Order: sequence, then structure tokens, then C-alpha cells
Amino acid sequence: MTGPQWTLEEIPDLSERRALVTGVTSGLGEHTVLELARRGAEVVMAARSAGKLEQAVDAVRRALPQAVLVPLIVDLADLSSVRRAAEEAGRLGPLDILVNNAGVMATPHRRTSDGFELQMGTNHFGHFALTGLLWPQLVAAESARVVTVSSQMHRIARAVPQGDPRHDAGGRYERWTAYAQSKLANLLFAFELERRARAAGTKVQSNAAHPGYARTNLQRTGPGMGSGRSQAAILLGVTRLVGQPADLGALPTLMAATMPGLPGGSYVGPRGPLESRGLPTVVKASRVANDAELARRWWELSEEATRVHFP
Ligand SMILES: NC(=O)c1ccc[n+]([C@@H]2O[C@H](COP(=O)([O-])OP(=O)(O)OC[C@H]3O[C@@H](n4cnc5c(N)ncnc54)[C@H](OP(=O)(O)O)[C@@H]3O)[C@@H](O)[C@H]2O)c1
Repeated sequence: MTGPQWTLEEIPDLSERRALVTGVTSGLGEHTVLELARRGAEVVMAARSAGKLEQAVDAVRRALPQAVLVPLIVDLADLSSVRRAAEEAGRLGPLDILVNNAGVMATPHRRTSDGFELQMGTNHFGHFALTGLLWPQLVAAESARVVTVSSQMHRIARAVPQGDPRHDAGGRYERWTAYAQSKLANLLFAFELERRARAAGTKVQSNAAHPGYARTNLQRTGPGMGSGRSQAAILLGVTRLVGQPADLGALPTLMAATMPGLPGGSYVGPRGPLESRGLPTVVKASRVANDAELARRWWELSEEATRVHFP
């Protein structure tokens, strides 16, 4: 790894900044919120479950009594919920940092309220729509950043599904391939957003990050659904042995969101072996993730599928 060395101490003062983080009820999202709030940012904490969200807000308040936190309900697997949330968040004013973090992994074949395959719907389409709907607030900030959380798993996806995303072939579904495709979709989106933001002359920067292998609820939630219980048990054992703690897993996101001078379109991940653990640095995405023509087509498909058009 050749990128700059970075640690938590380098997060600049974020007072007067507003951040919105999705997936704050566990894992990486929880730690991302904590560190942004510690540096003085007002943090909009977005989650789908009111009960879990209340607990998450209380936990941050216990650790940081001065924190300015705004709870926001959003179910990324339901575009009407995304629209409501964006409207509510939009009323707060300019948005300096948007962290597209929430996600599900290796779920059995299910569909979102809008008919998308659950992982692609939650991980990509929900965040695509949220970012597009919050675009005016991002442009209104002095120099906003969008960080989209991907995964090393993007490397095993050779493409993203073509055609109508509401009519994917459920019969041939493979849960890990679908996850990998959703994480490739995250990167295609993040890099295309950076290209479009530059072409439009905005000051919004789009970066991506991945946490390596971190011990969170991710390995429990999706793999434990449906017939995957024994696979999930093995995965949990492996995770306990080799996964790094969630607070370390959140460092690439925090670097991508706050490091001054980081070029737009950066992809940040751990610098350790196989990018699985360690302090964050700038890393490389797969060749497919850097395919600008594929990204352009994927963007158009995403706009059509979500009916969210970036201004
Ligand atoms: N952990 C790893 O090793 C690893 C590796 C590579 C990439 N990642 C990525 O890191 C990100 C964070 O995952 P994590 O590891 O922190 O997992 P996690 O502990 O399971 O957290 C996932 C978060 O996403 C939320 N979420 C799931 N579906 C949602 C929906 N429909 N609407 C709104 N929120 C939803 C969850 O909410 P609930 O509490 O309500 O379920 C939870 O807060 C994901 O994008 C994941 O793909 C993680």
C-alpha cells in the first residue's frame, strides 16, 4: 500500500458541519457516528427501526453528552420511506457529509417494497435515491463529501445485472453473488458520481471506502436468514477469529469522509494483508469497478429504476 498514513487523531474540527449516516444501529455506522459527533459535527442518525434508533441515539448521548444528534427514520428497502426521509433531512439545510453505510449481506432471495432484489435494493438503489434526493443540500454546503461503503467482495462480481431490476431471475439466485454485485454497484455509483460532480462544476466530492473484515452484525443478519443457519454459524466462528473490531473497520469511512486534501474518487480501505485489517489508506478497486462506460449505463438504469434524477 502506498497511500498516506491516517489515524483518528487527524479528523479535523467538524463543528458547523452536518453529517448524515445510514445504518447507525450497529457495526460500522455506530462508530462512524461517534467519531463525527466527537469532532463536533451535527449528526443525522438514519435507521429503519424506531426502537433501535432510539437506543443508538441514547448510546451516543451517554458517551458524548454535548453531541448534536437528529434521529431520522429511513428504510432503504422502500423508496417511499427514502423520499420521506430525504424531505425531512432536506429541511435541516446544507449537508456536508453523507455516509451511505447501511447494508445487508447474503440474504435469501427477497424483494424490497419496490420489487428490487433485497441486497441490490437496500445497498445500492436505496442509497442512490437518497443521494439524488439530498443533492441540493450537498451542493448547498461549502464542500460536501459523499462516502459510499463497498466491500472487497466487489471483486468477485464480473458485472451488475442488466435489464429491468424488478425482473431478476429469482430461480438462479445465489446470495453471495448478489451481495458482490451490490457492492460493485456501490463503487460504480461512487466513481460515476465523482465524474458527474466534476463535470457539473460542483464542489461535492464522492469517495468510497471498505472496512476489510470487521466483526459486526453483518455476518449474522443475512446469512442467518432462510436456510443459511449452519453456514452463518461457521461464518460467525471465522469472524470471531479473524475479523477486526468494528471501530477499526469504520476508519476507512472516516478517512474518506474527513481527510483534508484527499482527491475526489478515492477508495479507502485497510492497509494490512489482503486489505482485511489495519489502518486505512487509499486502495484500488477492480478493473470492472473503474469501467466508466458500464458506470454510465448503470447510472441511467438506476435513475430509471428509482425515478430519482439528479438535477
Ligand atoms: N463487516 C464487514 O466485514 C464488512 C465488510 C465489507 C463491507 N461491509 C459493509 O459495511 C456496511 C456496514 O455494515 P456492518 O458491517 O456495520 O453491518 P451491520 O452491523 O449489520 O450494520 C448494518 C446496518 O445497516 C442497517 N440496515 C440494513 N437494512 C436496512 C434498511 N433496509 N434500511 C435502513 N437500514 C438498514 C442495519 O439496521 P438494523 O439494525 O435495523 O438491521 C444496520 O444498522 C455495509 O454496507 C456492508 O456491506 C462490511
